[in-house]
Amino acid sequence: MNALGPVVRQTPPVARPPVALVPAGPQDAVTLAEIDRKAFPHPWTARDFADALRQTSTAATFAMAGAQPLGAILVQYDRFGKGDISINSLAVVPEARGHKIGETLMVAALREAREKGCERAVLEVDVSNAPALRLYEKLGFEVRETLPNYYVDEGHDAYRMELPALQSPQVGDRLGVE
Ligand SMILES: CC(C)(COP(=O)(O)OP(=O)(O)OC[C@H]1O[C@@H](n2cnc3c(N)ncnc32)[C@H](O)[C@@H]1OP(=O)(O)O)[C@@H](O)C(=O)NCCC(=O)NCCS
Repeated sequence: MNALGPVVRQTPPVARPPVALVPAGPQDAVTLAEIDRKAFPHPWTARDFADALRQTSTAATFAMAGAQPLGAILVQYDRFGKGDISINSLAVVPEARGHKIGETLMVAALREAREKGCERAVLEVDVSNAPALRLYEKLGFEVRETLPNYYVDEGHDAYRMELPALQSPQVGDRLGVE
C-alpha cells in the first residue's frame, strides 16, 4: 500500500526506471489534475477528474516511482459503442518523459481492455502532437478521421484514431501478451 492505494501490478518490462501502476479514484482528482496541468495547455480540473471517476465506466491509473506520481491514464469503456475502450487522457510529467512511462501506461490499459473482452480502442489526438502520434502508431492505432477545430482553444484539428481487432493475436503480440 501507499498513500494512493494498493499497488496492483508491476508494469510491463518497458519503463525505466521501474514504475508501479496504481489505480486512481475520485479521491485522487487533485493529483490527476496536477499531472494534467503539467502536460496540457487546457488541463482538466480536479472536479472534471472527480466527476469522470464517479462513473463506473471510467478508470484511471497512476505510474508511480515510489510515492511520486509521474504520469496517469484515464480510460472510458463503451464510449462510442459496446466493446470499446476510449483513451480519454494520457499524460507524463515533463521531467519523466522519454522513459517509456507513457507507453507502459497505454500498454497496460490496452491489455486490461483485452482481458475485459474489448474489441476496439479509440482516442483523439492533436494532429500536431508528434510524440503522441508516434506512440499510438507504434502500438497499431490507425487514423480514422480528422475532426476539424476539435481543440477549439488552440484552433487545432484532431485525428480520431482506432486500434481495431484488440483480441487478435497480432495485437496481442504487439502488447506483449503471452
Ligand atoms: C505523449 C506522452 C504521453 C508520451 O509519454 P513518454 O513517457 O514520454 O513516452 P515513451 O517514453 O513511453 O515513448 C514511447 C513512444 O512514444 C513515441 N515518442 C515519445 N516521445 C517522443 C518524442 N519526443 N518524439 C517522437 N516520438 C516520441 C516513440 O514512438 C516512443 O517509442 P520509442 O522510444 O521506441 O521510439 C508524453 O509526451 C506527454 O505526456 N505529452 C503531453 C501530454 C500529451 O500530449 N498526451 C497525449 C494526448 S493525446
